[in-house]
Amino acid sequence: MEAIYTPPIALAFLVAAALFILALRGLSNQETAKRGNLFGIVGMAIAIVATLFIPDFKIHPLVVVAIAGGGALGAFLAVRVGMTQMPELVALLHSFVGLAAVLVGFALQLAGGHADLTHKIEVYIDVIIGAITVTGSILAFLKLRGSVSGKPLLLPARHMLNLGMLIAIVVFGVLYGKDGHTWALAAGAAVACVLGVHLVAAIGGADMPVVVSMLNSYSGWTAAAAGFMLSNDVLIVTGALVGSSGAILSYIMCRAMNRSIWNVIFGGFGADPPKAAAGAPAQPAGEVLDIDQAGLVDKLLESKQVVIVPGYGMAVARAQHAVRELTEILRGKDIGVRFAIHPVAGRLPGHMNVLLAEASVPYDIVLEMDEINGDLPSTDVVIVIGANDIVNPGAEDDPASPIYGMPVLQVWKSKLVVVNKRSRAAGYAGVDNPLFYKPVTRMLFGDAKGAIEKLVTELRTR
Ligand code: TAP
Repeated sequence: MEAIYTPPIALAFLVAAALFILALRGLSNQETAKRGNLFGIVGMAIAIVATLFIPDFKIHPLVVVAIAGGGALGAFLAVRVGMTQMPELVALLHSFVGLAAVLVGFALQLAGGHADLTHKIEVYIDVIIGAITVTGSILAFLKLRGSVSGKPLLLPARHMLNLGMLIAIVVFGVLYGKDGHTWALAAGAAVACVLGVHLVAAIGGADMPVVVSMLNSYSGWTAAAAGFMLSNDVLIVTGALVGSSGAILSYIMCRAMNRSIWNVIFGGFGADPPKAAAGAPAQPAGEVLDIDQAGLVDKLLESKQVVIVPGYGMAVARAQHAVRELTEILRGKDIGVRFAIHPVAGRLPGHMNVLLAEASVPYDIVLEMDEINGDLPSTDVVIVIGANDIVNPGAEDDPASPIYGMPVLQVWKSKLVVVNKRSRAAGYAGVDNPLFYKPVTRMLFGDAKGAIEKLVTELRTR
């Protein structure tokens, strides 16, 4: 299936590839993200139209059905799925990429005519990475949905098992390369399917977001392999972009969560599983002091600099619009307000940035952890809204803590910290938070939306 590109088609593919690069660049910053998305859409449209014009390209009616059906399903999901369900949707979409790669590989094999070794290698690599991606992504989807337990399955000889499967894949690959038999390709794919399940099963719920981004990377590499197989340059470029950006994102997330990337890829490799199960209730460890909205308003009106730290609870309560109102009122009273964003706040990369942008909070007052940590000691009031792990001082000073070593927002260094959440319950990592018991801290108990709306009402009366 050697594609012959006329110069206009080659040019169209080049433009599409350039647009994909611009799309990724745009998506790296919230101010340019919409433009980045647009570049991606235009690039993909150009790539599809150019493909239809490849000489000898015949549109099978099923292709039209697939494009129309896939497009409609994509639009439906985009409208229906909530922000907190994004990780599981992304995991499911990766399984489609993997499945497509496996099917294309088998289609080429069954169509015959791939006698040369290079093509056989391309087909085999594509099918193997695709098969790992399919089953791994489906299991990741089920774990994120809660349909399958998030607990890691740590079999005693798991690394030997992985090694055994890897060797089997290589052996079947050699046999396939030698004789080109379909059974060898199918046997390699079957082992890869089991490997995909085993790799993801060994990873605990806490590391699932990194796994999803790793699977994103795998789906990119499988698309690149499919590009070599079909001699399609734009697929090679797109696959390589997705593969490398997914790998970089996984690395960044691992660093932000203080996880070893090898531990995440191989499941518990060289590290103990977290001591506390995700979401397990932590034991209260001391007295807490609370504050009400009237008391907080008194403190805010005496302040010059206020920092707001949003977390998962703000997302769950959908409190971002009330938070924006609070920001506007305070800024209207000449009180400086900035937001401190932790790289893994919430449940997906950029979660807080997306919510704040949706509520029209100005970008220039939304700062990353590294940009704002140094300013916290001179901050009069820090309001933590539905965040927990990302402001846990135990990550810095308790070597026994499962999150020890994770960089956190040092809110306890400010003059006053007010933590809004519903109870003293633990966050995602399932560990108690010594911040609640510090003399500098006051708790503002309640659902984030209700609590901040009440605060706004109180502020308006002053
Ligand atoms: P968490 O540590 O999960 O804490 C969120 C807190 O929000 C909870 O302690 C909960 O306490 C409170 N909350 C829940 N519903 C609320 C509501 N309606 N109103 C007010 N508060 C509410 O969140 P975080 O500080 O954002 O940290 C994120 C955690 O998730 C980290 O451990 C991170 O490693 C992990 N993680 C991050 C990602 C990414 S990529 N962002 C992905 C997966 C996991 P109450 O129940 O007492 O209200």
